[in-house]
Amino acid sequence: MARVATQGASCPFSEPSQDFRPYDMADPFPFYAWLRDQAPVFYSEETGYYVVSRHADIKAVFDDWRTFSSENAQAPMRPMCDEGRRIMRDGGFTAYSGLSARVPPEHTRLRAIVQGCFGPRRFKAIEPQIREIVNAQIDGFIDRGHADFFREFAYDVPALVLFKLVGVPNADVPRVKAWSVSRALLTWGNLSDDEQLPHAHNMVEYWAYCRALVAARHENPTDDLPGDLVRLQAGGAEISDDEIAGVLYSVLFAGHETTTTLLANGIDSLLSYRDNWVAIVADRSRIPAAVDEVLRFSPSIVAWRRKATTDATIGGVKVPEGANILLLIGSANRDERVIDHPETFDIARRDARQHLSFGYGIHSCVGQQLAKLESTIALEELTRRIPSLRLAPNRSRTYLNNISFRVPAAVAVEWDRA
Ligand code: HEM
Repeated sequence: MARVATQGASCPFSEPSQDFRPYDMADPFPFYAWLRDQAPVFYSEETGYYVVSRHADIKAVFDDWRTFSSENAQAPMRPMCDEGRRIMRDGGFTAYSGLSARVPPEHTRLRAIVQGCFGPRRFKAIEPQIREIVNAQIDGFIDRGHADFFREFAYDVPALVLFKLVGVPNADVPRVKAWSVSRALLTWGNLSDDEQLPHAHNMVEYWAYCRALVAARHENPTDDLPGDLVRLQAGGAEISDDEIAGVLYSVLFAGHETTTTLLANGIDSLLSYRDNWVAIVADRSRIPAAVDEVLRFSPSIVAWRRKATTDATIGGVKVPEGANILLLIGSANRDERVIDHPETFDIARRDARQHLSFGYGIHSCVGQQLAKLESTIALEELTRRIPSLRLAPNRSRTYLNNISFRVPAAVAVEWDRA
């Protein structure tokens, strides 16, 4: 934890006055509000990042990929220890970001190929399966009258959906979920050397799994994402096997972890401000607007990274070439300069879609349609089958310790049994 200085008229970083806890996700929002007002761009000694908190500045950085590259988006916040590096090297781990940390022209080439596989046809086809998965999950606890919504619903549903898309068996859900947590903690967490080691072993297994998927599709090119990519490659698309494995390595993480969090934070927000839940129970056509408001108010990713490729200016503050930049998406979404009464959760608001929760510009999330579709179907079925859903007393306020993802440890809920 480090002190941040208020912005003085003569010296922008003079008087220490607030604590910055970059890895504490419990409730960063009051600090974000203070930052937007007092120190909208400041250098954090603890992390080595310039921290940006206003909506206009963050959007401008996202939009200018030449000046602010995404090459550090997947860099470990804390470098891997020597033993961890040895484990990964000996295990043949050579994974690199599928898309998010790649830069043009490589990014442009791969993104065009991948985006073609994420079209409406795929999502339309998978819609009935999503509803089936959601209902099967609800069946598992509906008679009980209480559940940990995070563990018993949000944790599995997006992975089961994604696995249909990627064409891997349900039995692999626990493994891939565990690998994803390892990836999140190694990249965005603050683990000690000893703590890193089991996760290093997991990354070796995760990468081998992605490569095996590609090899299997060469044998039998099934109708799924890796099958599509292998078919495109055979048809002349410029993408190597390792690049396809890299895309799977990205999607098998990005495609469920963030949606798990959206579902969990969504139920938490809708039930904390329960008038909104009552409103969607009464009128399900309001669910898509509710999903937008959850994305704005309680984003899965509150901070994302960029690197300055040259000397630059952000919000009037100079940042040197090579500077690492932390964009506080969770703060942009509550910037009073753009959003009316930003601290109020209200599904009726008209400005929710100003949120930057899927990023912006050339890297903006390729899975956003899927994330919204899943959340909409989940809320349609939950409001229909469990309208009396409410938060249980004494709920946990524990969140995963890391710099980017706001993941609750649990969301305890209860309801009237039929
Ligand atoms: C609530 C759910 C989700 C959230 C909040 C989210 C958020 C984000 C964010 C913030 C970025 C970085 C954007 C930037 O750098 O400008 C991103 C990129 C990406 N997301 Fe998502 N995402 C979600 C769901 C998904 C899903 C379901 C998939 C895939 C099935 C996915 C795949 C990707 C990929 C591949 C990229 C990299 C795109 C690129 O660099 O061109 N995401 N996402």
